[in-house]
Amino acid sequence: MCGIVGYIGEQEATSIIFEGLRKLEYRGYDSAGIATLQPDGIAVRRSEGKLLNLEKLLREQPLAGSIGIGHTRWATHGRPSETNAHPHRAGSIVVVHNGIIENYLGLKEQLQAAGHKFSSQTDTEVIAHLVEERLKTAGSFEVAVRTALQELQGAFAVCILCKDQPDTLIAAKVGSPMVVGLGQGEFFVASDIPAILAHTREMVFMEDGELAVFNGRSACFSTIAGAPLEKKARHIDWSPLMAEKGGYKHFMLKEIHEQPRAVRDTIAGRLQEQQGDVYLEDLGYADAALQTVQRMVIVACGTSWHAALTGKFLIEGHCRIPVEIDIASEFRYRSPVIDEKTLVMVISQSGETADTLAALREAKKLGAMNLAICNVLDSSIARDAAGVIYTHAGPEIGVASTKAFVTQLTALYLFTIRLGRAIGRLSVSEGQQMIADLKKVPELLEQTLKLNGQTEKIARQYMNARDFLYLGRGRNFPIALEGALKLKEISYIHAEGYPAGEMKHGPIALIDEHVPVVVLVPKNSTYEKTVSNMEEVIARSGRVIALCSEGDHEVQDKAEATLELPELSDDLDPILLSVPLQLLAYHIAVLKGTDVDQPRNLAKSVTVE
Ligand code: F6R
Repeated sequence: MCGIVGYIGEQEATSIIFEGLRKLEYRGYDSAGIATLQPDGIAVRRSEGKLLNLEKLLREQPLAGSIGIGHTRWATHGRPSETNAHPHRAGSIVVVHNGIIENYLGLKEQLQAAGHKFSSQTDTEVIAHLVEERLKTAGSFEVAVRTALQELQGAFAVCILCKDQPDTLIAAKVGSPMVVGLGQGEFFVASDIPAILAHTREMVFMEDGELAVFNGRSACFSTIAGAPLEKKARHIDWSPLMAEKGGYKHFMLKEIHEQPRAVRDTIAGRLQEQQGDVYLEDLGYADAALQTVQRMVIVACGTSWHAALTGKFLIEGHCRIPVEIDIASEFRYRSPVIDEKTLVMVISQSGETADTLAALREAKKLGAMNLAICNVLDSSIARDAAGVIYTHAGPEIGVASTKAFVTQLTALYLFTIRLGRAIGRLSVSEGQQMIADLKKVPELLEQTLKLNGQTEKIARQYMNARDFLYLGRGRNFPIALEGALKLKEISYIHAEGYPAGEMKHGPIALIDEHVPVVVLVPKNSTYEKTVSNMEEVIARSGRVIALCSEGDHEVQDKAEATLELPELSDDLDPILLSVPLQLLAYHIAVLKGTDVDQPRNLAKSVTVE
């Protein structure tokens, strides 16, 4: 997830682009750059780190010109550095890109064989070289861009300039957002509305597969293949703050709604469907090394620890390797039994959590193989671990973790397939089935998000309860814990998660007509048992809110409120179930008037032990 801005008109481009990038810093902030068309070619300024560094560079080396493109980066391929910062140049072509090019390795090899020299580790640079290569035969910049873009697989929003076409900017979109702002004889292009809202409120939203050519004072929309399109502008009346949150009231709600995209990005380019396997580019361990793993320990904090708990079910279930889960702040102090045949995995959204980092270092000291699931590229944990599986959730701003969590579940699922295939405990057809199920997730997440309105009504009904219980069995028990944590941290209501079968051993004494009990009861292998546990609660006057499978009338008849979810698989249900729980916590918190994005006493990244 990165931010791009483009400008073509009469004004000085750099300041317009820079101010736009400032508004997009929420989309990434590890490096940034701007390029402008000048009479003698294209000038580029790039710098590592936050926009402040680029601002300093631009003060020292200003950029003139009234046509330009800019980028703020959230690294996916290639560590944050000036060399990997956008814009990327190849010959006469300069590109900024948001998204992931899945077939970049193959294209890079072809282009290298044709004599192209690459200077970065990014997937983006391939686009610049490919357009430059096609320019040799295409006859025009526009045709070269169209041809090159049709060869790309994956997701992209791009803005492209050509030194020999001094009056043109081309933008295109497949899978990543892009909006065009219409001014008086000028055009603005951006990944998101806030970047250009100060200049115009008339916006055209580009759809997947569309391309726009801005030529002097005109804009021409077409499909990438070249079929002309009539696009209608919409008037945007959002306030600037609303716009930064994509029109949502809070970052948390925006991030909840980003989850289909976040999962899509996390699996993009990694599935090897025919082999029933996945490709994890920075895993750090080949099959032979994975075959020596005797046991695993997964260590994390908070929400990431809940992800770890579901990982145990996945890995033990499919790979038959024993997995222990540990809380990072406990791990170092209990003299863990670890050796070189133990694979220690740490999970961290920020990659900076002090307890998790210390646990990783302890594991390394003890000689363990080690691996991290991480959202922030080149964070301390990502740098320290021998291997990394990056989640591509994009920057998470709301303190309560949402999209990072579901992408951690996704990464664990991907790792399970890889490990299972590497050690021969997962057959090709089992791998293929798991991949087929995984591919359904983004769309089913979209479907699940439609429960938002219904969840808000339920939130109104139960918001005054003093305590909540969350029950789930098996892989859904960690999701019950996660649901309770979400409610606690943003609404300040006391909540507990329990394995549903454990109720009768004590906690059931808490049940009365005042306690809402959220029961996770999808139609899976523990369905009947969970229904019985739900009945035990109802028999003691507990008020059940059930999360069940679509069309489950048995549960609907028994529960006081129900939210129906699409059916998927035992392994992936936790991802779908997470969504209504996030929404429930969110709406209760909003109704109570708490500070949803920055709840009291909490910080996004806990860098103290
Ligand atoms: C809760 C939450 C925290 C974090 C925890 C670990 O919503 O976000 O519980 O999960 O502080 O943080 P990371 O994953 O950055 O190590």
